[in-house]
Amino acid sequence: MKLHEVLTIDLAQINKEIEQLVTRDKDVPKDSQLSHSILQLIGSGGKRLRPIMVMVGSRFGRKAPGRRTYQLAAAAEFIHAASLIHDDIIDDAELRRGVPALHIGTGTLAAVHIGNYMSARVIELLSKYRGDKNRYVHDLSSVATAQLCLGEYQQLEQAFNYDISMAQYLEKSRNKTALLMATCLRVGALSSESSRELADLLYSFGEALGMSFQIQDDLLDYTQATDVLGKPAGSDLRHGQVTLPVIFALRDPELAPAIRGITPGSFSAEVGHVLELIKHSTALQQAEAVSRDYLEQAAAIAGQLSAYPAHADLQTLLQYFAARDH
Ligand code: FPP
Ligand code: MG
Repeated sequence: MKLHEVLTIDLAQINKEIEQLVTRDKDVPKDSQLSHSILQLIGSGGKRLRPIMVMVGSRFGRKAPGRRTYQLAAAAEFIHAASLIHDDIIDDAELRRGVPALHIGTGTLAAVHIGNYMSARVIELLSKYRGDKNRYVHDLSSVATAQLCLGEYQQLEQAFNYDISMAQYLEKSRNKTALLMATCLRVGALSSESSRELADLLYSFGEALGMSFQIQDDLLDYTQATDVLGKPAGSDLRHGQVTLPVIFALRDPELAPAIRGITPGSFSAEVGHVLELIKHSTALQQAEAVSRDYLEQAAAIAGQLSAYPAHADLQTLLQYFAARDH
């Protein structure tokens, strides 16, 4: 069973809202490349994890989720999809989810504009929610999006820096992944009129879940084959991404010189050799343990919410994030 089925979330309704973000924009001609590219992109799959988190958050409120909640769910996916367009350009990735990345089809310049449009369209959509009572809505399009960009900037700045600290890695991961997930749960909760305190607890839950997710994502680059990943395995190391497995491997004096020897000009065989060294060290298990710690933090927060019927949905999310092969 898929995650949305276990949670009985109406994914068709979410997908309709996502599509309408572009089809209802009167300024975008229906037969334009912009419109086709976005519809193709959002139709090409994706787990819709962030919209699902908005919907789960909304189950903690006093009101049943309404149109606003679905629009926030769609906005979350649009921001995420826009960020992946840019991410694939930055990472020079040719594949996303096993199909050519958007920039491969449209060219880099058009893809940059499409990503920018999607991000700006979310601001346009959410701008109709005015007034103090609705201020939280803009957290998605303002704070969370800015944090995403900041995290990606930190990652760029830290490429091939083998001296980055664990704290720097965690801060970057928090910015680029965890805070958007946290915001999804919080805005979902506030959209159905939860209390601030409850929404903040859900934010912390989402943040811990997101940290675990990013560490898992970084581990998958070492543990999964290219065909399962839908992108070349080992790309992070090739691109100088000093992720958590590398940070642990660098602590091993026998591995450190080989890792530090990888530069933008390294040959594929050299990178392949270092990948194997890392895979056969204890670094992956150590990174796995940090990911599990975050899941335990999330579980402890969920434990504080056991009086709510939707608590079961947090347990479902925890189980989903604990499974390694997603
Ligand atoms: C995936 O990282 C990328 C992100 C989580 C965020 C990317 C954000 C930007 C590029 C900033 C631009 C944002 C907007 C809204 C215009 P990854 O490379 O670790 O994951 P992957 O394995 O899925 O590629
Ligand atoms: Mg990437």
